[in-house]
Amino acid sequence: MGKFYVTTPIYYVNDVPHIGHAYTTVAADALARYWKLKGQQVYFLTGTDEHGLKMQRAAQEKGITPQELADANSEQFKRLWEKMNIQYDDFIRTTEERHMKAVTAFVDRLMKAGDIFLGEYEDWYCVPDETYWTETQLLPGRLCPNCKRPVELLKEPSYFFKMSKYRERLLEHLKLHPDFVQPEVRWNEVKSFVEGEVRDLSISRTTFDWGIPIPNAKGHVTYVWVDALLNYISALGWPDDPEGKFQSFWPADIQLIGKDILRHHAVYWPCLLMAAGVELPQTVYAHGWWTNEGQKMSKSLHNFVDPNTMIVEFGLDAFRYFIMREVAFGQDGDFSVTAFKGRINSDLANDLGNLLSRVCGMISRYLDGKFSGASSPQGLDRELEEGLNKTDREVELCFRNCTFHKALTYIWEFIGQTNKYIDTTAPWALAKDPAQKDRLETVLLCSAASLRGIALLLWPFMPGSAEKMWIALGLEPPLSGAMAFNAYHPRNPISKVQPLFPRLEA
Ligand code: ME8
Ligand code: MG
Repeated sequence: MGKFYVTTPIYYVNDVPHIGHAYTTVAADALARYWKLKGQQVYFLTGTDEHGLKMQRAAQEKGITPQELADANSEQFKRLWEKMNIQYDDFIRTTEERHMKAVTAFVDRLMKAGDIFLGEYEDWYCVPDETYWTETQLLPGRLCPNCKRPVELLKEPSYFFKMSKYRERLLEHLKLHPDFVQPEVRWNEVKSFVEGEVRDLSISRTTFDWGIPIPNAKGHVTYVWVDALLNYISALGWPDDPEGKFQSFWPADIQLIGKDILRHHAVYWPCLLMAAGVELPQTVYAHGWWTNEGQKMSKSLHNFVDPNTMIVEFGLDAFRYFIMREVAFGQDGDFSVTAFKGRINSDLANDLGNLLSRVCGMISRYLDGKFSGASSPQGLDRELEEGLNKTDREVELCFRNCTFHKALTYIWEFIGQTNKYIDTTAPWALAKDPAQKDRLETVLLCSAASLRGIALLLWPFMPGSAEKMWIALGLEPPLSGAMAFNAYHPRNPISKVQPLFPRLEA
């Protein structure tokens, strides 16, 4: 049995979660569930990033302590993940003792290795992104090239990490591992960045105190990004590894991020790991950004899509489906409620929901909810089963490449094939002829076995609905087993079902 370690970024808790946070986390949840179902030993980590100047300022504005703000908002993230059926294995907060100890040990190790020196930082800083910029990187008007907000001039003593020392090794690693950064467009971006100048990284700040102290350096707190990146190993118990999790799960198989934090993950992070003598993750995957009805989501525009509202209005699984299906993972996408409603009616209510209702309805009506066991598959039936097996293989490849939208497209092609199979075999006609009893049973059995396969394939994306399908098909949760038609053994009688996804009015 293999292992699979997947991470999301740890989100800032200066504010509450929005669709962007939900997006990465649902993708990670889908990956984790998929590989779990395939029998891998999975570890799925998420959490919150709680130190830094942005946090300190946000708390000041509210007149509370940064810890109080962190406690309140970290709880919002946890609550949302619970609502969204996110099955994480661990939730790390950077203000936890276990994390702070690891950061101290890490910085200490780099100091002892001679990779840290005292200097002075004099350049620009974006507080919302907690990121350093040089004059030449800024947009006209001295704006942050990532979030386009004004930057601030910093001039203060600072400890530096000798990142430039690792430039060659990182470049070498990139060339040897085209998978290290995905998708390819991001790999190219990182490569050209590393081919340019990689400067030493300022890793401490002295003008505020909401951070982890640098060991033996009065007044210096650790730069929030160094602190935050280490969550991926501190959560596993690095360096002492009391439970052996680090040994079992590191290196991460995939670290999901948005393209806004690519450089931190594909340059700073591997250099830091090299300096500490820790293996690099297999893959850093940077997805695109959501916009709202064509506009960039931003605080000032108050147009952040609130996942809580979407779930209440349209249902959790419809929301999970839409964000995974609508936009190619890796590309930017637009959240349009009209498009969302369209998908609910066509993909979910019509294609999938109707298929389940039709099949369960006919099994209940024509077979009294039970199969007698007679089955004599013909060409069409074998074609249907081959369609399912083919879909299974295609979907696996998609999960290997994080092409979730494609996985769902393949699953819907098979849903289409199953609907067509029913139209062609016309069980309602077979039911009129007692001589066709065996054929009728075979057709309905194959249809139900297809739906069982569809439930297995959909579980990573829509766990709640897949479980409803499973139960409707007379099976007992949890979902498990092979795709093959002959793995379908209903335990309970099958009856008519409520629509899985009610149609929405236009
Ligand atoms: O950057 N579209 O936290 P953060 C898609 N604490 N994804 C989006 C998005 C959007 N419009 N907005 C946010 C941080 N995201 C650091 C991370 S990790 C060691 C430290 C998602 O709260 C996406 O995953 O700003 C993005 O990278 C992340 O949220 C940034 O969250
Ligand atoms: Mg951000």
